Amino acid sequence: MGLKIIIVGGGIAGLAAAIALRKGDREITILEQSSISQEIGATISLQPNASKIVEGQWGLASTLRDRGSMVDGAFEVYNLDGEMQIRIPLQTTDKYGAERMMYHRADLHQTLKERATSEKFPGRPATLKTSSRVSTCDCDSGTVQLVNGEVLSADLIVGADGIKSVIRRCVLGEEAIARPTGLSAYRMMIPTDNLLKETDFTKVIDPRKGCTTMVIGRDRRLIMGPARNGSIYSIVALVPDENMNEDSANTSWTTEGNHDKMMNTFADFPSWARKPLQLAMASELGLWQLRDLDPLPTWYSGRAILIGDAAHAMLPTQGQGASQSIEDAEALGAFFNAFEESSDMSLSSIADVNNAIFKCRYDRATTIQAYSRQAAKPATEPGDRKVNMNPAEFMDYNCSYSGAIDWKRRQEAVA
Ligand SMILES: Cc1cc2nc3c(=O)[nH]c(=O)nc-3n(C[C@H](O)[C@H](O)[C@H](O)COP(=O)(O)OP(=O)(O)OC[C@H]3O[C@@H](n4cnc5c(N)ncnc54)[C@H](O)[C@@H]3O)c2cc1C
Ligand SMILES: *[C@@H]1O[C@H](CO)[C@@H](O)[C@H](O)[C@H]1NC(C)=O
Ligand SMILES: *[C@@H]1O[C@H](CO)[C@@H](O)[C@H](O)[C@H]1NC(C)=O
Ligand SMILES: *[C@@H]1O[C@H](CO)[C@@H](O)[C@H](O)[C@H]1NC(C)=O
Ligand SMILES: *[C@@H]1O[C@H](CO)[C@@H](O)[C@H](O)[C@H]1NC(C)=O
Repeated sequence: MGLKIIIVGGGIAGLAAAIALRKGDREITILEQSSISQEIGATISLQPNASKIVEGQWGLASTLRDRGSMVDGAFEVYNLDGEMQIRIPLQTTDKYGAERMMYHRADLHQTLKERATSEKFPGRPATLKTSSRVSTCDCDSGTVQLVNGEVLSADLIVGADGIKSVIRRCVLGEEAIARPTGLSAYRMMIPTDNLLKETDFTKVIDPRKGCTTMVIGRDRRLIMGPARNGSIYSIVALVPDENMNEDSANTSWTTEGNHDKMMNTFADFPSWARKPLQLAMASELGLWQLRDLDPLPTWYSGRAILIGDAAHAMLPTQGQGASQSIEDAEALGAFFNAFEESSDMSLSSIADVNNAIFKCRYDRATTIQAYSRQAAKPATEPGDRKVNMNPAEFMDYNCSYSGAIDWKRRQEAVA
């Protein structure tokens, strides 16, 4: 008899959990509220250790390559005068055994979805049920209820339902509200061909090359990079929150961005750096309020455990949100790996494994979460045009992660 598993949420964390847990005749059901399980645009990067899990351990390198995955070769920071302040080469294979990778979000999501649900891979395929919004969960009995009243049960419930998680409320017994962080992000993608015509931009940056560029001025910054073999260029523009709604119970955290207002906000940025913003379609400009969570007291209760943004939503300043979700998923797979051989499916034995996963993952994810919040602080003083920040704040933070079991061994060695 294999474990019966329900995963709530079909985002990157939920799909990754299905892949990591998929084994033998385990019955895995992913419940996704939206009608089509699909990710929206923008580039997403995975740090070397997470890319190694996805590309190596799960065997997805060639599929992702076909879809246009790119190695992130360097990280460059420019100041308001357009001068390069910091350049960190990111050839990380020697040091960390893998590269920092850039994907189109939709490509990564699609690839994970196939790996979780296709017959082609070992273990019974996971079933993805769309239009299935979970309204509540009983952590001890292992049941979830859908908004249509349907009740499903399993030995293990994985709450991968994102920053507004319903399972989190059930695990904690109370609401943990995601906090506005004072930052919002415009997100846009443009065809690289359009940018190649802008010679003042291409004199500074080759938008086809795998490289992350950041331009910083006080409390605003541009983070730019290519996706899909350099055919598209993605830009995230971080700005202080202005009139996004401050009501933390409000579920709408996105609004249409105003193109003129955005250009105004970046008026004193170098003119080459403003080019991609100018080329962005006003009609496709989204503005997202960025929220994160304070560290939670726990991630599990009984048969239910939280992973990904549901457990530790963090700011995108370190590009670690997806990587930490992948590491959580890998931990689920590792700790439940031999479960059927050694244990029964009782509440206490499942809760023991959940506890072990929580103990293994909590410090690392919480530290990276705090770090991401800290890195959002203005990087230049008012009136100062030079960037004063430690490059180590951006990169290299604990990339030396060899999976959950190894991490546990290292924790024990320190203790
Ligand atoms: C502007 C921005 C830029 C980012 N850039 C990066 C980056 O470069 N690198 C990086 O690593 N990370 C980045 N992130 C973070 C990253 O996107 C997330 O951390 C990562 O995708 C993990 O998300 P998740 O799967 O836990 O949650 P989500 O992606 O939110 O997925 C949750 C899923 O659960 C579903 N769901 C929710 N509630 C229910 C319910 N009650 N019932 C059923 N289904 C439900 C949702 O529909 C959704 O599909 C960025 C985030 C933002 C906002
Ligand atoms: C990306 O480049 C690789 C290697 O050149 C190629 O195999 C793949 O088809 C390309 N994919 C896309 C989407 O451009
Ligand atoms: C959320 O905020 C938007 C924009 O301010 C507003 O139009 C909407 O009514 C609010 N929704 C709720 C549920 O408060
Ligand atoms: C993680 O990084 C921090 C800060 O650099 C360091 O103190 C710590 O030792 C690292 N942990 C491991 C296990 O490498
Ligand atoms: C993570 O990086 C370390 C090197 O620091 C490497 O030894 C290890 O294999 C990597 N782990 C994974 C899971 O990729």
